[in-house]
Amino acid sequence: MTDRELLEIAVEARKKSYSPYSGFRVGAALLGKSGKIYTGCNVENAAYTPTNCAERTAVFKAVSEGEREFSAIAIVGGKGEDVADFCAPCGVCRQVLAEFCDGDFRVVLGTPDNIRVYSFAEILPLSFGKNDLA
Ligand code: THU
Repeated sequence: MTDRELLEIAVEARKKSYSPYSGFRVGAALLGKSGKIYTGCNVENAAYTPTNCAERTAVFKAVSEGEREFSAIAIVGGKGEDVADFCAPCGVCRQVLAEFCDGDFRVVLGTPDNIRVYSFAEILPLSFGKNDLA
């Protein structure tokens, strides 16, 4: 599975985004170490705070199906039909990913023309996690 292939799956997942309030549509594709891919989209709510981001949708789907180890996530987001810029995962999603992902987990961000890849350690340095509670 290449980064570009994973991004294409995130682009497809984005089409399912339920975002009538913000109009900001996000898709994610999470690659499990088993090789299985879990997709997610953002799911908004009239009460706003119950909204779930695309990344967390993908993580929760995966964990609820028994997968807990991951190698990469691809994320695509933007207003309306367009993807004008890179969409980085929000702080809450980074914390949720931290529960299951190592520092070398790959975070793949895409626009129609460009791709950027970060390690998880780069985007969440000095994190708080399960080792702190050991
Ligand atoms: N959103 C995501 O799904 N992922 C992110 O990384 C950033 C934000 C969603 C939440 C909300 O539905 C909309 O984008 C605007 O914040």
